[in-house]
Amino acid sequence: MSVLVVEPGGPLRGSVYVPGDKSISHRVLMLAALADGTSVIRGLSDGRDVRCTLSIIGQIGAEMDEGADGTLRIRGGRLHEPGAVLDVGNSGTGIRLLAGMLAGMPFRSVLDGDASIRRRPMDRVLVPLAQMGARVSGFDGSMSAPLTIEGGGLSGIDYEPPVASAQVKGCVLFAGLSADGPTTVVEPAPTRAHTEELFVATGVEVVAEPGRVSVAPGRPRPFEHDVEGDPSQAAFWAVAASIVPDSEVVVQNVYRGQGRNGFVDVLQRMGADLHHDPATGDLTVRAATLDGTVVGADEVPGLVDEIPVLAVAAACAGGETRFEGVAELRVKESDRLATVEEFLGAMGIPARTEGDVLVVEGGRLHGASVDSHHDHRIAMAAAVAALVADGPTTIDGWESVATSYPGFADDLLGLRSGGD
Ligand code: S3P
Repeated sequence: MSVLVVEPGGPLRGSVYVPGDKSISHRVLMLAALADGTSVIRGLSDGRDVRCTLSIIGQIGAEMDEGADGTLRIRGGRLHEPGAVLDVGNSGTGIRLLAGMLAGMPFRSVLDGDASIRRRPMDRVLVPLAQMGARVSGFDGSMSAPLTIEGGGLSGIDYEPPVASAQVKGCVLFAGLSADGPTTVVEPAPTRAHTEELFVATGVEVVAEPGRVSVAPGRPRPFEHDVEGDPSQAAFWAVAASIVPDSEVVVQNVYRGQGRNGFVDVLQRMGADLHHDPATGDLTVRAATLDGTVVGADEVPGLVDEIPVLAVAAACAGGETRFEGVAELRVKESDRLATVEEFLGAMGIPARTEGDVLVVEGGRLHGASVDSHHDHRIAMAAAVAALVADGPTTIDGWESVATSYPGFADDLLGLRSGGD
């Protein structure tokens, strides 16, 4: 297990690119695998999660060529049964979306991942896929990975997931591409719309209304896509530059679409000085004094991955911040209500959970030894908190950061030395 030691100090200055958006990266790889012809993708996330999906589409027959500049050419459309278990690594998005796509393929596949993936709930995708007629099962009669999928013979369904989840919506819609009629998902609350937007962009027949998406069976056509920077990674620099005195950071080319920039609204409400340029995608952030706020349950799907680092902003704010309706955090890469409480507590900040509300009291952060629990976002959130602590912080399990942002520590060094 690797460790990162972060000394406090700053300021952070300069500009930085974050990895390509992870949610979009998974989806464009899957669409390229389904499209009959060659698709061209630039700016794909370099995180391990997305590398796992890339490897999986190769194992089922997509042919790929990666140029020196990172441009990927993928020839899809001739998919076949994999020769081995498909390993999604740490990726919940990977396993749930791929389960949907593979449920439509006329062959058998087995999807597995790391210890965290084996703990995460898969009933949320196994139930609708079984309703569509897929022969899908979890490990040893359970609803957990590894998942075995005998694909093909799907019927279109109308499905109303019990949780607001873009992964579940995406799973059902990807399966719907191979069904015998239209498939509809009715969402309990709006979630990120990448699946339906990318379907439209690649010529798949979709009808999207607020809270309701229908897809007709079909295949995407080959496409070109430039993946923009991941807002959930930009959020680490947005919080870091807000809390470290005298900082000024520009995160370049951050995704501008709907449903992903809720953290910008929350930070602005807290008093942060940040601006997301709609023309360039550049997110400019300057240090500011923050105040506590209430993050409503209706906002959570639009910032669900950013809550660990927003909790750090709350720790540095005056007064109390409440994150309402955050029960889903219990079933992410770690139990993030427990792991946020634990690392902030170790650093001297009272954080507690009241039912499905996370409450963080602003205060003075102390240097400490914290455990990431193999959760990339906990490790990076702790690194941001460490910048304003009163002594060094040691973060255990730093290697997990490679899941989504392999260059995070280098980018931190670059911003601390004021370069770009
Ligand atoms: C994702 C959706 C979110 C998010 C995850 C990526 C996606 O999960 O936490 O990191 O790409 O669809 P849920 O929609 O299941 O909450």
